Amino acid sequence: MSSGHDDADLRSRVARLSTEQKIRLLTGADFWALYPEPDAGLRRVVLSDGPAGVRGETWDERDTSANVPSPTALAATWDCDRVEAIGRLLAAEARRKGVDVLLAPTVNLHRTPYGGRHFECFSEDPLLTARIGVAYVRGLQSQGVGATVKHFVGNDSETERMSVDVRVDERTLRELYLAPFEAIVREAGAWAVMAAYNGVNGSTMTESPLLRAILHDEWGYDGLVMSDWTATRGTEAAARAALDLAMPGPAERFGPWGDALLEAVRAGQVDETLIDDKVLRILRLAVRVGGLDGAASSSGPRSPALVDIPRELRATAAASFVLARNERSLLPLDRSGLGRVALIGPNAEIARTLGGGSATVYPPYTVSPLDGLRAAGLDVAFAPGTLGHLRTAPARAPWLVRPDGSGPGADVRFFSPSGEVIGSEQREAAVFRWMNGFAAIGAPEQIDRLEISCLIRATEAGTYQLGVTGIGRFRLLTDEAVLFDETLTVRKGADVGETLMAPPVWLAPLDLAAGQSVAVRLEHDVHTSPMAAFGTFFQLLLEPPHGTDDEEMEAAVALAAGSDVAVVVVGTTAEVESEGFDRTSLALPGRQDELVRKVAAANPRTVVVVNSGAPVLLPWADQVAAVLLTWFGGQEFGNALADVLLGEAEPGGRLPTTWPASEDGLPSAQPDHGVLTYTEGLFIGYRAFDRDGREPLFPFGHGRGYTTWSYDSITVDCDDATPPSPHGADVAVCVEVRNTGSRPGREVVQVYASRPDSAVERPVRWLAGFAVVDADPGETVTVGILLPERAFQHWADGGWTLEAGTFALAAGSSAASLPLTGGVTLK
Ligand code: BGC
Repeated sequence: MSSGHDDADLRSRVARLSTEQKIRLLTGADFWALYPEPDAGLRRVVLSDGPAGVRGETWDERDTSANVPSPTALAATWDCDRVEAIGRLLAAEARRKGVDVLLAPTVNLHRTPYGGRHFECFSEDPLLTARIGVAYVRGLQSQGVGATVKHFVGNDSETERMSVDVRVDERTLRELYLAPFEAIVREAGAWAVMAAYNGVNGSTMTESPLLRAILHDEWGYDGLVMSDWTATRGTEAAARAALDLAMPGPAERFGPWGDALLEAVRAGQVDETLIDDKVLRILRLAVRVGGLDGAASSSGPRSPALVDIPRELRATAAASFVLARNERSLLPLDRSGLGRVALIGPNAEIARTLGGGSATVYPPYTVSPLDGLRAAGLDVAFAPGTLGHLRTAPARAPWLVRPDGSGPGADVRFFSPSGEVIGSEQREAAVFRWMNGFAAIGAPEQIDRLEISCLIRATEAGTYQLGVTGIGRFRLLTDEAVLFDETLTVRKGADVGETLMAPPVWLAPLDLAAGQSVAVRLEHDVHTSPMAAFGTFFQLLLEPPHGTDDEEMEAAVALAAGSDVAVVVVGTTAEVESEGFDRTSLALPGRQDELVRKVAAANPRTVVVVNSGAPVLLPWADQVAAVLLTWFGGQEFGNALADVLLGEAEPGGRLPTTWPASEDGLPSAQPDHGVLTYTEGLFIGYRAFDRDGREPLFPFGHGRGYTTWSYDSITVDCDDATPPSPHGADVAVCVEVRNTGSRPGREVVQVYASRPDSAVERPVRWLAGFAVVDADPGETVTVGILLPERAFQHWADGGWTLEAGTFALAAGSSAASLPLTGGVTLK
C-alpha cells in the first residue's frame, strides 16, 4: 500500500525538523485540527465527526451539515454501490466545510443491542460490516477526504468505556471484531484508524501491542493511528506503541505528550526514530488529503462533486427501510380512494433523524413524518398519543422570538471577566454549544458570562414549561423576575457523552394567554461548566401546552377509529440512543406499547413505523397489520416514509442485525469490576439464536419488498461471479431468482456457509456473501456472488486455517429462510 507519493521526500521533510517541532505535531493544535508546520510544508489539517454527516469545526445551527441516515440504515441497504455514493456525498460535504479527514466509519460490531452507539455501527455481522465499511471508505477517499476507521478495537458498548478492559479470546477477536478493520485497511487502504478508549486483554488501546503487531506488522498499514479524544493515557507507553497522534490538543491542556514526550526522548526513554515514523505518517496523511505544499493529493483532481443531496438522501433512506411485516398486503397504500390518514405517535411531528453524541450534526432542515405525508398530498390528521417520556425540546419557532420581535431566534451577549460586553451573536435556535473556544469572540478564558435574550410568545392559552438543561450555574428570568438561580450538576461518574447528551433539566410552569409574550433572559457563568477549558453547552427549553398522556391517548385512539388507516410512529430519540451510555432496557420508552395496542384495536389497518437506530422490543408485532423499521432516517426521513408507504419507492432494507423478541439471552454491556468479558465468544446475533434454537422476532437479513420472489437454483463454482475472484481460493456461486409478483422489485440474495461435521466449534451458519438484484415482474435474474476465501477460514494457533473438506452453502432471503442448498469441497 503506497501513498502514491515519494516517501523519500517525506523523510527529508521530517529530517528538516527539530525534535521540538516534531513532537509538537504529535498532539492536536486544538479540538479538531493538527498543527501546521511551515518548515515541512504542512498546512493545518482538519478532522471532523462523524458517520452521519460532516459536522465541521462549529457545532450549531449556523453551520449546517447534510444528515445522512444512521449507519444501521446504511448497512440495512446491503448495497455497496449506494453506500459508496454516500461516501462521495460526505466527501463533498467535507470539502464544503473545510474538513480533510472524517472521523468515520464506526465499525465496532452490534455485539449487544444495549450498546449506546449501536445506531452508529453497521451490523452484528463482520462480513456485512466489512463490505459496507469498505464501500463507505472507498467513496470518501476517492474524493481525497480521509476516513478514520474507529474505534480500534472492542469499543462495542459504552458503559465505563474510558477504563473498561474487554476480555476476548484471540479467535473471537480475529473472526469478529478485527475482521472489518482488516478488510477496510487491506482493501480500501484507510488513511487513518482511531484507537479506542477501552482496553483489550489488559492494555488500554492507545498503548496496546495490537496497534503495531497487527496494523503495522501483519496488515502492512501505512496510515495514521490517532487516539480517541483524551484516550492517550501515558507518555512513553503510548509513544512506543504505534499511536501517532494524541487528540485533542493542545498538549498544554490535554497532555500527555508535548513536553513530557520531549523529555522522554531526550532522556533516551523513547527512541527518536519512533517519533520520526509518527511524523512521517502525519505527513503521509497530509499528502493524501492535499495538505502538503507542492505535494499533489493522491486521489487526483478535487472537483466538487455534483450531488443532488436531498434526492440521494431520500432514496437512501427508502432503500434502508425494512418492511418486517405486511399482513394482507396493507402496504403500499393505494393513493386512489385513500381517505383520511391518522398519523399518531411521539416521533411523528418532530423528526428524529439521528442518534446522540459526537455523531450529531445540525441538518439544514428535517422532514418529519408529518411533513412528509402532508407534502405527499395526503389528508393527514395528527395526534401525538403519548409524550410523557420525551425530554423537553429546545425552544423553537413559532414560540421562540428575538427580543426585538423581528423573527425567530435569540440574541447572545458575551461578557469578559471585568463585565464588559465583548461580543454578540444572533441565533435562530436555542441550542448553545461551543467546543473549541468561542469562535471569533474569544478564547475560553476571555469569556466569563453569557446572556441569552429572547421572547417567548404563546400561540395558544395554557401552561408552557420553560427551563434549561446544561451543567453549571444558570439564572433564568422572565420579565426581569428570577425564576431559577442555581447550579445544575452532572451525575457522579457520568461519561462525557452523557454529560453532553442528557444533562440535568430544570423546568417551571408558565401560564400564558394566547398571543402573550414574555421577555426571557438566561444567564450562564461559563467558568462553572465542566467544559470551561474549551467552551460550554446548554439549551433553553420550552414545551407548549398539551394534554395529559391519558387525554392524548384517548384523542389518538378516537382519531384512529375514525380514519381510513392509522400510521403510528413510535421510537427512541438521540437522548435514548447515544454515545456515552448504554441502554438498560430495550422496551420502547414510556407508554408507546400501550398506544400501539390501543390504536391497532381501534383500526385494523394500522401500520407501525419504528423510528429507532437499534432494535427495540415490539411485543405487539403480531397484532398489527404492518411493521416498517426505519432507523434514524436522516434529514429526508419523512419524504422517504411517504414514498415507501405509497409504494413510490420499494422498502429496500434487510436487517443488518437480529431483532430479538425479548431480552433473554443477550450479551451484557455491563462490566464487572472494570472487566467486560465476551463470554459468548463467537456467538453474537444470529449466531447465538441459531446455536440455542431460539426464535428472534425478526431474523438477520429479513425484510419484505412489495413483490415476491422464488429462489430457483444455486450453482457453485460458476464463472460469472462479479467481481471476478482476485485469488483462486475464493468461491463463486450463481443464484437464480425470479420476481413472481406484479411489481418491479429489489431483493438481497444472501449466501450462508456452514460446516456440520466440523472438528472445531463453529456457528450453525455464517454469512459468506450477498448481492442486490433488481427485476421486473416475471423476470429471472442470475446473480453471481463471490464468497471470499476468508469466509471458509477460522483462526487457530496464531494463524488463519482452512479445515479441508465440504462446506454446506445455503442461499435465500434471510438467515432463517434459505431454500437453496449446495456445497463446496475445499482443500
Ligand atoms: C468519540 C469519537 C469521536 C471523538 C471526537 C469521542 O468521544 O468516541 O468517536 O470521533 O469523540 O468527537
